[in-house]
Amino acid sequence: MKIIMLGAPGAGKGTQAKRIAEKYSIPHISTGDIFRANIKNGTELGKKAKTFMDQGLLVPDELVVDLVVDRVGQDDAKNGYVLDGFPRTIPQAEALDNALAAINEKVDYAINVDVPDENIINRMSGRRACVSCGGTYHIVYAPTKTEGVCDACGGELVLRDDDKPETVKKRLGVYHEQTQPLIDYYNKKKILVDIDGTQDMSQVFDAIVKVLGE
Ligand code: AP5
Ligand code: MG
Ligand code: ZN
Repeated sequence: MKIIMLGAPGAGKGTQAKRIAEKYSIPHISTGDIFRANIKNGTELGKKAKTFMDQGLLVPDELVVDLVVDRVGQDDAKNGYVLDGFPRTIPQAEALDNALAAINEKVDYAINVDVPDENIINRMSGRRACVSCGGTYHIVYAPTKTEGVCDACGGELVLRDDDKPETVKKRLGVYHEQTQPLIDYYNKKKILVDIDGTQDMSQVFDAIVKVLGE
């Protein structure tokens, strides 16, 4: 099962991808998490990516595509994967399709988690991310047992650098311009699944499972 998560920043791609990965025992591959891990470890890739991410801009395609093609070719991805945050541009989608076609494979589902812009800013200001494991919470919708401490690993929770309201607005603009065209791209391939992302997290997940199967 090869799944792509589409949706605006803050739509809940990461939240749902994590649940999908657990239920269907496939890896959750988030390009945003990969970049954040590289930034934390001070790698060259991290340094390059940070300058774009902090401005709310996309990292250039050439820094993303090879990384993902390599990742989905690893052993644990043999039975499928859920891609979260990739592809984000038409050239990225084409590069993925070409890499899969070369081994006689294709994407099975593109799940679009649909949330209007009005709801997004509110979600992002309440999001908290774990600096150690990348776990995601929300101060109102997904609170931790102890404030400021990750339930999963005990790590410290922070507001992501790019979750400031000005940067979120910028990211939304970039999403509409560069990523939204992918909805049409996958619709034409007849693998698009539209999900109402304004429902609560479990309802969103139930709607996804209805499509993917128990
Ligand atoms: P990335 O990390 O992918 O960020 P994003 O797409 O902006 O999406 P987010 O992670 O912010 O949101 P999400 O949809 O995962 O929502 P979440 O589940 O956390 O990318 C960051 C940056 O990296 C990009 O800006 C770019 O620079 C770069 N990058 C990454 N991939 C790239 C690529 N392929 N090409 C180029 N550049 C790339 O949920 C949000 C909050 O809402 C949470 O607090 C959550 O608890 C809460 N929530 C979730 N669902 C619900 C619900 N149903 N109801 C209420 N609250 C909810
Ligand atoms: Mg995410
Ligand atoms: Zn953690």
